[in-house]
Amino acid sequence: MAISNLPDFRGGIDIRDVADGAIVSGRVDAEEAILVRRGEEFFAVGAQCTHYHGALAAGLAVGDTIRCPLHHACFSLRTGEALRAPALDPIACWRVERAGTKVFVRERLATPKPPAPKDGKAGALPSSVTIIGGGAAGLAAADRLRREGYSGPIMLISADSSPPYDRPNLSKDFLMGTAPAEWMPLRTPEYFAERKIELLLDSRVASLDLKQRTVRLERGRQVDFDALLLATGADPVRLDIPVAGGTRLFYLRTFADSQAIAAAAAAAKRVVVVGASFIGLEVAASLRQRGIEVHVVGPERIPFEHVLGAQLGALVREVHESHGVIFHLGTSVANVEGRRVTLKDASSIEADFIVIGAGVRPTIKLAEQAGLEIDRGVQVNEYLETSVAGVFAAGDIARWPDPYSGARIRVEHWVVAERQGQIAALNMLGRRQRFDAVPFFWSQHYDVTINYVGHAETWDAIDVDGSLSSRDCAVTYRRGGRILAVASISRDLKSLEAERDFELTQTGATDG
Ligand SMILES: Cc1cc2nc3c(=O)[nH]c(=O)nc-3n(C[C@H](O)[C@H](O)[C@H](O)COP(=O)(O)OP(=O)(O)OC[C@H]3O[C@@H](n4cnc5c(N)ncnc54)[C@H](O)[C@@H]3O)c2cc1C
Ligand code: FES
Repeated sequence: MAISNLPDFRGGIDIRDVADGAIVSGRVDAEEAILVRRGEEFFAVGAQCTHYHGALAAGLAVGDTIRCPLHHACFSLRTGEALRAPALDPIACWRVERAGTKVFVRERLATPKPPAPKDGKAGALPSSVTIIGGGAAGLAAADRLRREGYSGPIMLISADSSPPYDRPNLSKDFLMGTAPAEWMPLRTPEYFAERKIELLLDSRVASLDLKQRTVRLERGRQVDFDALLLATGADPVRLDIPVAGGTRLFYLRTFADSQAIAAAAAAAKRVVVVGASFIGLEVAASLRQRGIEVHVVGPERIPFEHVLGAQLGALVREVHESHGVIFHLGTSVANVEGRRVTLKDASSIEADFIVIGAGVRPTIKLAEQAGLEIDRGVQVNEYLETSVAGVFAAGDIARWPDPYSGARIRVEHWVVAERQGQIAALNMLGRRQRFDAVPFFWSQHYDVTINYVGHAETWDAIDVDGSLSSRDCAVTYRRGGRILAVASISRDLKSLEAERDFELTQTGATDG
C-alpha cells in the first residue's frame, strides 16, 4: 500500500478500534509506523526492523517489546532500542498522547543514552576489554559495551581479513548473486573509528596467558587485557578425500570463501556439494538459482533428519528436487580425479568444482591450551563466564546451562551468538545478567524459510500442525509431553508465540 494511503497517526486514532495487543499500521507524516496497544498504554514506533526490514506489523508484542517476525529481533516499545539481536540499531519512537477516546502521535523521541557505567565494588569495570573473534558474538559484544557507555579501551582481534560481516548471507543472497559485496559488512569503518573500537584484522591469536592476562598474536605482538571475551566461532570439518588433478574443493566459512565460490560459479555448469547440511543445502539452492546443475552427496538417507525429523527433512529434499537438485544420499565421495568425482556406490559425476558442507567444529584450541574448562566447547556458567573470572566465552564455542532444556548446550546459530555477545558485554560491566534467550535459528531454501525456536536433541513425539505439502506448518518436538522446540514454515507469528511461551515457562510470569 502506498504510504500516503495509510492512516496518519498525527490525526489521532480512536482507541475503541484498537484491541489490546493489536498492532495498527499507519504513518507519522511520511514515515511508516505502527501503533501498538498494551493494556491501557499505546506506543508508536517505526514499522521496519533494522535487521533486514522485516514488517513489525506482522510481529508480536510481548510486554513492552515488539518482536520481528523474520528473525526475532526485539525492540523496546518505550524507546525504540534494539534490545536483542539480530537487529543492532534502534527503530524510530514517538511520544503518544491520549485525549478522551483518541490517541495522538506527537514528537519523535531521541534514543536514550545510558548513563556511563559506574565503577564500584559490586560491578567493578574492567580497565580494558579484549575480544578474540570478529564475528557475530565479538561484534555484538563490542557494540553493546559502547551502547552501555563503557569508555575504556576495546580491542577486537580477528583472524579474518574482512571486518565483521553478515555470515549467514554467505550461503544465501550473496552467493546467489543478488546481494552485492557492499551489503555484507555489518558496520562501516567510521563506526569503529567513532566508537574507538580498535579492530585488528588478519591477526590470529596464538596463545593466551590467563595469569599474566595477556594475549599473544601469531605475528608476535602481545596485548594486555583486564576482561576477555573468547568468540572464536567454528571451523568447517575438513574431509580426507583423495584428490588427484585440478578440481577445486571449497569450504564455506568466510567472506573470502564465499567470494571464491561465487567467482568459480560464474563459469561453472555442474557442481558437487558434499554434505546435505544446512550450509550444504543453502549453497545448493544458491547455485541452482544461478542455473548451475547441482548434485548433493551425503551419507544420510534424509537431510536434517536428526535435527528436524523425518517429515520436515523429506520436505526439504522435495523442495530441492523440485528446483532440480540431484541427490546421492546414503553414500559419500571415494575419490576425485580431475573433474571426476567417484562415489562409494561406484557411480561418478563430472564436476567443475566441489563445495564441502560437512558441519563445523568449535574453535577451542586457544581456550584448551590456556587451561579453561572444556566440554565439547568452552564451559560457561549462566553469566557466560568461563572457569576463570573475567574471561567470558560466547557464540559457537560456548556450552552454557540452557534454562529451557535444563541441559548444558552448545549451538551454532547466528542470533544466539550475537545475543550471547550482548549478555557477555553486560556481565563484563558487572551486571550479572543470566543468558536466558530461547535458542533461535533460520535457514533459507529458495522461497522456503524454516524458523526454529527451542532446542531438541532428541524427542519422543513430533506433531505437525498445518500442511507440509503446502509449505505452511508448525512442527512441535516433544519429550515426555514437554515441548522442546518448534520449527515452522510460513508461520512466523507461531514461531514468535512459541518463543514467548518458552520465556513465560521460564519466568513463570504472565505476558502483560
Ligand atoms: C555460510 C554460513 C551460513 C550460515 N547461516 C546461518 C543461518 O542462516 N542462521 C543461523 O542461525 N546461523 C547461520 N550460520 C551460523 C552462524 O553464522 C554462526 O553460528 C555464527 O557466526 C557464530 O558466531 P561466532 O561469533 O561464534 O563465530 P564467527 O561468526 O564464526 O566468528 C568467529 C571469529 O573468530 C575469529 N577467530 C577464530 N580464531 C581466532 C584466533 N585464534 N585469533 C583471532 N581471531 C580468531 C574468526 O576469524 C572470526 O572472525 C551460518 C554459518 C555459515 C558459515
Ligand atoms: S528482519 Fe527483523 S530480525 Fe531479521
